[in-house]
Parts: sequence; C-alpha cells; structure tokens
Amino acid sequence: MTSPGAGIEPKELEELVAVALRRVDATESLDDLRRAETELVGKRSEISLAHRRLGSLDADARRSAGRLLGEAKAVISAAIATRRSVLADRERHDRLESDRLDLTELPDPSGTGLAPIGSLGHLHLVHRTRDELEDVFVGMGFVVADGPEVETDWYNFEALNIPAAHPARGMWDTFYLDLGEPETVLLRTHTSPVQIRLMQQQAPPIYAVMPGRCYRRDTPDARHNPIFHQVEGLVVDDGTSFADLAGTIETFTGAYFGSGIHARLRPAYFPFTEPSAEFEITCTICLGKGCRTCSHTGWVELGGCGMVHPAVFEAVDVDPERYTGFAFGFGIDRCAQMRYAIPDMRVMLENDVRVLAQV
Ligand code: FA5
Repeated sequence: MTSPGAGIEPKELEELVAVALRRVDATESLDDLRRAETELVGKRSEISLAHRRLGSLDADARRSAGRLLGEAKAVISAAIATRRSVLADRERHDRLESDRLDLTELPDPSGTGLAPIGSLGHLHLVHRTRDELEDVFVGMGFVVADGPEVETDWYNFEALNIPAAHPARGMWDTFYLDLGEPETVLLRTHTSPVQIRLMQQQAPPIYAVMPGRCYRRDTPDARHNPIFHQVEGLVVDDGTSFADLAGTIETFTGAYFGSGIHARLRPAYFPFTEPSAEFEITCTICLGKGCRTCSHTGWVELGGCGMVHPAVFEAVDVDPERYTGFAFGFGIDRCAQMRYAIPDMRVMLENDVRVLAQV
C-alpha cells in the first residue's frame, strides 16, 4: 500500500489538517471546542480511524504513515490547546464583567426589576422618626444634644440615683464590656446618662432632647429589641412644674401622632424622677380593642417621665432648692411602630427590603 496516511493520501491529510484548523479557529466557546476536539482527534475521528488501519500496512509504510498521522494529530492538538486558552481567557473576562457590582445601580424595592427613576433609597424608618421627633421638639424650643453609647456605671446608673442593688444593674439586663473593673463599663441601657453629661456641661436653663441608640438584654418580641433608640428630654429652669411636663407631652403627642390618638400618664417609679409617670397611647394596631402587640391592654407605653429627683441634681451640683426640672425618655422605635401601625417591632432590625420599601 502506497498511502502514507493509511488510506489517506498526503494531499488529503494536508487538506484534513487545514479543515481541522479552520474548524478549531471558528469555535466560539469552550463547549464548542470540546465538540470539535472529539470530532477531530477523538476515538472516532478520521485520524484515529486511519491510525487503526496502520496494522494492515507493511513495517516501512506503517512507520512513515504513522509519523505523518502523528504529526497531523499533533498540529491539530496544538491548535486546540491554543484556542482553549484564548476561549478560557475570553470566558473568564466575560464572567468578571457580568459579575461586576454596579455600585451606582438604583435599588429595586418593588422586586419588579424596574427601579423608579431617581430613587436612591431612603433613611431607615427609625432614623427618619428620630429626625421627625427632633423637628417636633426643636419647634417647641428644645436644642438637640447627644452622648456616648458606651457609658460608665456612674453615668448610666449611679448619678441617676439607681442604687447598686437595683435589678437594672444585673448581668441579665445590661451588656457589660470587658474593660476596667468588672461591671463598670457598659452599653448604655437608656439615654438618661446624657442628662447627667449635659447638666455637667451647662448651667440651667436647659431645654434639650437627646436621641440615641440603647442596648438591653431584652428578649426580642412584638414591642422589644435588644438594640433600640430613645429620645431623652430634659428641662431645668426656675419654677418648672409637672403641669409643664404634661403639657409638653400632650403637645408632642398631638404634633407627632395627630389629634385622633389618646395619650395618658400613669403613675410609675423611676429612681431618677419623683413623681414619675409612664406615658401611653392607644394601641394603633387594634385601636384600643386589645391585641398581641399591646398584650391585650389596648395601650402601648411609649416612655417614662417625671420631675428630676433632687439626688440627681446633687450628683451634678445643680441646686435643688433653686431649680426644678422634668425629664422624659421615649422609645423612638416604639413611636415609629405606633405611628406606622407595625404589629411587630422585630421587622425593624431585619432589614428586609420588602418591609423597608413600604415605610
Ligand atoms: C427608661 O429607659 C427611662 N430612662 C425613661 C425615663 C427618662 C424616665 C427620663 C423618666 C425620666 P423605660 O425602661 O421604661 O425607661 O424605657 C422607656 C421607653 O423605651 C419604653 O417605654 C419603650 O418605648 C422604650 N424601650 C425600652 N426597652 C425597649 C426595647 N427593648 N425595645 C424597644 N423599645 C424599648
């Protein structure tokens, strides 16, 4: 047999290689290249079939045909390898391009894929509520102040006349930090320590509100989160009375919730105010009928308030014989919850866009 290509003429073999190289060059994906590889050099390819026929040739013809077939296969395989690296690079590049985060992309809270033009999101409901509450109080003549979230035991408890044995100081109610003496540095449990800092910084008259984040080891439920926000209020002046406190709260309630919402003050106990009261409004979820959110009472507590205790004035060197004052502390999350009739406060920390987009 004369054919060095075991049944394929040298010319034919050249043509086969040329066609194979064009086929390899024309592939546009790694999948297509894999298919081409099977067709061109796989077990059933023309080259492999010709290889199998080598056995029928005599020794010399077999050697020379085998060499030609081997060279042809090597040329095609090298072209496949080169193309594979080109295609792999191209596919990696395309993947990186398509995976790239577009940080300027507009959010799509509706989940429809159609972001409203110009929509860049909005502040979280709690922060909006904080701003709105600040506006109401600034409109009533208050200034806004703030204080640290990490407090010492003295500011959070001691200066506020909260005795060492008070249950609020227990390990189970407070997040203590592993700093200094045990149980001396903590995440503030309320915004009331800012009252102390403010009275240390400035002499009366004081008309201030102090919004901020607070932390307690409270089990999350419909009205509680372990991280929440309060707005503290403090007025210290000549002749401030409980009537001023009640009037301030009534004005605030009307301005923030509108006239349809009833508020009431109930006698309560806080070590840093005397007398003290709790401030409640009609539950906006059930409109007073009783539901899970208000523990079936029809009322939801928004905060505590009262006349500043003389012991607190003494802790900060304000003369209790000359000055009187009132203080209050409302839950900002609770205000937002009641204003927007949100049955469960836990959704405020979950950051589910389907909820956030609605409020
Ligand atoms: C206080 O924290 C007092 N410092 C309030 C105060 C200030 C009284 C000034 C007198 C004078 P209380 O623990 O009741 O009080 O909390 C006040 C409000 O904070 C609650 O009515 C509620 O609205 C909110 N609050 C308290 N704990 C949580 C919580 N775990 N999650 C959400 N809101 C909370």
